[in-house]
Amino acid sequence: MIVLGIESSCDETSAAIVEGDASQATLRSCVILSQDVHRVFGGVVPEIASRAHLASLVPVTQRALADAALTLDDIDAIAVTHAPGLVGALLVGVSFANGLALAHNRPVLGVHHLEGHLFATTLEQADAEPPFTALLVSGGHTLLLDVAAWGEYRLLGSTRDDAAGEAFDKAAKLLGLGYPGGRALEALAATAAPHPLAFSPPMLHGGQRAGDADYLDVSFSGLKTAVLREVRAREADGTIDVMRAPIAAAFQSALIETLVAKTLRAAALHHRTRIVLGGGVACNQALQGAMRRAGASRGITVFAPSPRFATDNAAMIARAGLFRLARGERSTHALSAFASLPLPGLVE
Ligand code: KG4
Ligand code: ZN
Repeated sequence: MIVLGIESSCDETSAAIVEGDASQATLRSCVILSQDVHRVFGGVVPEIASRAHLASLVPVTQRALADAALTLDDIDAIAVTHAPGLVGALLVGVSFANGLALAHNRPVLGVHHLEGHLFATTLEQADAEPPFTALLVSGGHTLLLDVAAWGEYRLLGSTRDDAAGEAFDKAAKLLGLGYPGGRALEALAATAAPHPLAFSPPMLHGGQRAGDADYLDVSFSGLKTAVLREVRAREADGTIDVMRAPIAAAFQSALIETLVAKTLRAAALHHRTRIVLGGGVACNQALQGAMRRAGASRGITVFAPSPRFATDNAAMIARAGLFRLARGERSTHALSAFASLPLPGLVE
């Protein structure tokens, strides 16, 4: 089965083609167009994102078809992100997919964006298969899931305020870095010489026990406030220029300590020997390194997607869609878009 995937939930316009069945898939092509326009405004402007998707979807899809040496007639089904995300941006992708499906008499399926992120790593690493513990850390979401099988997800923990990527972006902004700031903050932190400055890892202390509400949840707003206070104090005493890198390093290390500790707790609770990372923050090499070291000492293998598939892309949507389409799932051609929607296949 050959599936065309479409992704337009935020500021990446993407189309990709995968071929396979419910259990395996080969990526035939993937085209991702990032809307750099949002850097000018310091964040994603929803209306501008929708208009940019509208202008880009046709050429991006044509390029994905050409790269795979296929035409629309070769496509068996269309998978499109229908939730969660910016509803106007999603609607552009969903309307386009509905139109293509109707015109070519092909089935269409709405895919949950976060299920896409769960599948992203398998595009490149065949062993990133369930059962595993998943940590999804993006600009919009921070989730800890137990994945017993594809389509069978248990939500273990989430953020109580900012997403991990949002925390990176806000800290980066306080440090005078551009948007989105995660990558720049990581680069700045890497330049820091050893420094005594440290922030407490948020929502993490030894007294927490399995079953406690805060055992697996995370929260980053307190850490962001700590960064804000430190920046203001260093601006006041005139040392901000030399303190930016140590502040970035202290922020990143506190956030990572919490993410690693909570992910390992989740893996231990469900006796998993694999951890799969996903979402834009999974690009962070310090996070990957810390997770790998902590996992190795407990016999756990850590899988992380390459940056191309960690951030938003249609390959992961086509891959997740293929899994569900191959099981016979279909949406109607009146498929709609939703700003939020529970992950399909959630179990208690
Ligand atoms: O998954 P993604 O492309 O979009 C969403 O679905 O939100 O994630 C984007 C987020 C941004 O917040 C960005 O700052 C963050 O991922 N990010 C990083 C790194 N690269 C991207 N955060 C930390 N370190 C990085 N290297
Ligand atoms: Zn995403």
